[in-house]
Amino acid sequence: MRIIVENNYDEMSRTAAGIVADEVRRKPDCVLGLATGSTPLGMYRELIAMYQREELDFSGIKTFNLDEYFTLPPDHPQSYHYFMFENFFNHINVPKEQIHLPQGTATDIQKACQEYEKAIAQAGGIDLLVLGIGENGHIGFNEPAERLQVGTHLADLTEETVRVNSRFFPSLPKVPRQAVTMGLGTILKARRILLLANGLRKAPAIKETVSGFITTKCPASLLQVHPDMTLILDREAASLLKNQI
Ligand code: F6R
Repeated sequence: MRIIVENNYDEMSRTAAGIVADEVRRKPDCVLGLATGSTPLGMYRELIAMYQREELDFSGIKTFNLDEYFTLPPDHPQSYHYFMFENFFNHINVPKEQIHLPQGTATDIQKACQEYEKAIAQAGGIDLLVLGIGENGHIGFNEPAERLQVGTHLADLTEETVRVNSRFFPSLPKVPRQAVTMGLGTILKARRILLLANGLRKAPAIKETVSGFITTKCPASLLQVHPDMTLILDREAASLLKNQI
């Protein structure tokens, strides 16, 4: 696992955007896996700026997002569909039909999850997957548990995650308690993974992620078995790492 520690959030975002941009230049029809949340916002802003300066062309890429809230329709302001269009897709030239997110409102969720896996496979698999991490070590919405699921599935969110995510909702009861998420197998099949983390609140989960041990109590710790995994951290998120850097 490669660990890059930057001074602050902006530098972390620029470094991450640089790696994504290099991938898009190297392989203009690459398949990107993408995350939502506060962490990648700066990276999306950097990528949009590169596109506006005509340094990048996204017309050939395909994207697959990690997750979507169960029952939220794509036009719901708190849905991850909405987030991705607002913060990234509306500002670059990726054609709509090359964008994929799990369907939170599918009538047959099981079938929709299988179709999502099939669509990723048909696209040739994910070349570069960008992840954030929860304070409890979740990736996508794979929460700490005794058993973790391999493929895309409907997941229950922990109370902690519901509470943390309530900052984006008008009130706690409005936060969905379930989400459709890529599984650990879907994530680990990506050819290359970038995990971004900033801030002191992420430091314990990051420490666990590079501990040399794997535990389903910290789903991100499974990333240690991946052959091409890069962590991009700010100083605060890296503050509990000593010998690893
Ligand atoms: C979002 C996702 C989540 C977030 C994580 C961190 O698509 O998969 O695992 O990456 O909850 O969220 P932020 O970045 O808001 O701290």
